[in-house]
Amino acid sequence: MNELNFKRHRRLRINENMRSLVRETHLHKEDLIYPVFVVEEKGVKREISSMPGIYHLSLDYLVEEMKEVVSLGIKSVILFGVPEEKDECGTGAFHEHGIVQEAIRTLKKEVPELTVIADTCLCEYTSHGHCGLIEDGYVQNDESLKLLVDTAIAQAEAGADIIAPSNMMDGFVAAIRQGLDEAGYHKIPIMSYAVKYASAFYGPFREAAQSTPQSGDRKAYQMDPANRLEAFREADSDIEEGADFLIVKPALSYLDIMREIRDRHPVPVVAYNVSGEFSLVKAAAQQGWVDEKAIVLEKLTSMKRAGADLIITYFAKDVAKWLNE
Ligand code: PBG
Repeated sequence: MNELNFKRHRRLRINENMRSLVRETHLHKEDLIYPVFVVEEKGVKREISSMPGIYHLSLDYLVEEMKEVVSLGIKSVILFGVPEEKDECGTGAFHEHGIVQEAIRTLKKEVPELTVIADTCLCEYTSHGHCGLIEDGYVQNDESLKLLVDTAIAQAEAGADIIAPSNMMDGFVAAIRQGLDEAGYHKIPIMSYAVKYASAFYGPFREAAQSTPQSGDRKAYQMDPANRLEAFREADSDIEEGADFLIVKPALSYLDIMREIRDRHPVPVVAYNVSGEFSLVKAAAQQGWVDEKAIVLEKLTSMKRAGADLIITYFAKDVAKWLNE
């Protein structure tokens, strides 16, 4: 044995105390952002069939749920609206009494300690399900920007703490930054869905938000999953235009991109652990095929290891409970 020369890496893995001493990545409750679907109907708490444990909530149930979220130690939520009526230009998104604006006002009054992030997009509100105005079968860029700016301002007026534009029109950060500043909201940060891929992992969300495009797909504005350099172009321009946070979405299949975005940009990077990533784990766990808690903690830890500072996740409540144990 004497001439053998090798390293003993296992010394640092000998027991849980030793392992926790050298652990490089940690999940905190403060890292978690919980996505919530608010509906316009009254008295509704309806489970979304493809997302067990996630609900459509009317304003009364929203307050109840958000009080629980705060008591678990989660500090931020991101709101998605499901309106009763939709139209060509998505009026519900920017109307003063649109469902998200009402939800923000309610939360600011009833649960003021919560940071409320507003997803800024049109797809939940348009009859065709696309994220902008359609003309000649094409989602118009510059015309859609105007409606997005109106949406962001309406959300800011209602009291949103952070504006999170997700529609992937070119120039959305520049337009929204200018619109917010001119309306007197220079203090409100923009969390940009800078790097958003045209992903099959959004399937369950589109059921939840009733936002499946009625024709075509989103490939003419969301990014091609095969591309990496394009992510840097998107992130660079959003930073130049004034983004305060960068979102990478989805998370798990794009950890390589997350790492590179983290290394290139000194701003908070947010992983969006999307609906399909959630539902796959839930389905397997319901079958008893995987250990849900272990799988979820491993996945979220991998996002942080890849460079995410924050994680938007439908598992936020479960994770907070596990971290509280
Ligand atoms: C709106 C939006 C989507 C998601 C977040 N914001 C759907 C889409 O782009 O089709 C997906 C989130 C998820 O799957 O959890 N544009």
